[in-house]
Amino acid sequence: MHEKSISFKWEEYDSPDELAPDDNSLLEQATRAAMNAYAPYSGFRVGAALKLESGIVVTGTNVENAAFPSGICAERNALANASANYPGDRPVALAITALTKDGITGEPVSPCGNCRQVIAEEEYRYGKSIRLILGGKNNIRIIENAGDLLPLQFNSDSLKITPR
Ligand code: THU
Repeated sequence: MHEKSISFKWEEYDSPDELAPDDNSLLEQATRAAMNAYAPYSGFRVGAALKLESGIVVTGTNVENAAFPSGICAERNALANASANYPGDRPVALAITALTKDGITGEPVSPCGNCRQVIAEEEYRYGKSIRLILGGKNNIRIIENAGDLLPLQFNSDSLKITPR
C-alpha cells in the first residue's frame, strides 16, 4: 500500500486594485456578463469572461430552463461559444463572478463539477493550463491551473485515444 496525496496553491487578493490590470478587466467583463444572465429560477446570475490567446474575450452567462437540467452554466456557455466561433484560439484565462439580489457574492464562486470537466477538456485539447480568476466582493482567488480543481481526472488518456 502506498498512501498518496495531492495539494495545490492559489493566490488570494482582498481587492481588485491589487490585481494585474488585465485580470481586473477580465473580472469586470465577467460581472457585466452576469447582468445578462437568464436565471429566473435560482436568482443566481453568473458571468464568465474567457480570454483567448489572440486577446479576444468571449463571455457567457448561465441560462436556466423550466426543465432544470436543460439549463447551462456561464462557464460552459462561454467555452462552447469560444470553441464554436474561434476554433483553434486557445483559452488562456477564465474569470467568473456571480450576482445575487444583494450584488456580487462576498466569496468567489468556483466552477461546478460539470464545468470543471469541460474546462479540463480544453486544457487537454491545447496541452496548456487555463488560469482561473474567481471574483468575490471580499476575496479574489487566482488558480493558475484549472485542472488542479479536478485531481485524478477522467480525460482522453483514460479512453486510450489520442485526438491530438
Ligand atoms: N452556475 C453557474 O453558472 N456556474 C457555476 O459555477 C455555478 C452555478 C449556475 C447554474 C444555475 O443556473 C445557478 O448558477 C444556480 O446553481
